[in-house]
Amino acid sequence: MIIHNYHDEEEMSREVASKVFIALKSGLIKNLALPTGRTPILFYNYLADLINENQFKLDEIYTYNLDEFIFSNEKQKEVLSYKNYMDEHFFSKVKFPLKNIHFPSKEQDYDQLISSRGGIDLALIGIGNNGHIAFNEPGSEVDSPTRLVNLKIESREQNAILFNQSVQNIPDQAITMGLKTLLSSKIIFLLATGPSKKEILKKSFTENICRNIPASYLQSHPALEIFIDKAANWITK
Ligand code: PGA
Repeated sequence: MIIHNYHDEEEMSREVASKVFIALKSGLIKNLALPTGRTPILFYNYLADLINENQFKLDEIYTYNLDEFIFSNEKQKEVLSYKNYMDEHFFSKVKFPLKNIHFPSKEQDYDQLISSRGGIDLALIGIGNNGHIAFNEPGSEVDSPTRLVNLKIESREQNAILFNQSVQNIPDQAITMGLKTLLSSKIIFLLATGPSKKEILKKSFTENICRNIPASYLQSHPALEIFIDKAANWITK
């Protein structure tokens, strides 16, 4: 496990974008797992800039988002969908072939699809205040498949802040990439910023691996890199 410390979110996002861009240019990284949430917004900005400035072609790059809500109506979908989030923050800014973009859905076997394409080369992920990764909530098994999950109140509260909504408006179910596929990613970059992440990062990486803190499973990943800012840094005082 490698930990990269940065002064602030701005610096961290720029550096992660640069590392991801170098990885894409190398031609060795083709299948990306992508997160949503507050944390990666600036990263997507910088990555889009690098792609455009260098006129990098994305025809051979495939994306697999980590999760999506289950909506109870069209209005909710319009306001809260992670598809719209991705369009707004990344896909609309670069020339991504639509057929290369994937989201988990009830209709398709996401694990089978990803495995048939050779697995995830690089997964970018965040961490929930309750230790979830993607929407693998506390209690998730290490070999869980991509599946429908009930969201914990903490996860809904986190999204209420992201979408500037009250928590009652946030769906209580989602489809998440399971831990089996996620933890099989060849490389994982975990991004975390701000004081609210410090305690859960400490628990995840200094205590024993346990299913009540799914992020703790990352301890045993052979190629995990953690990117944090000063406020999330649980190591130095
Ligand atoms: P956040 O979400 O970036 O909005 O804090 C991270 C996550 O829940 O994975």
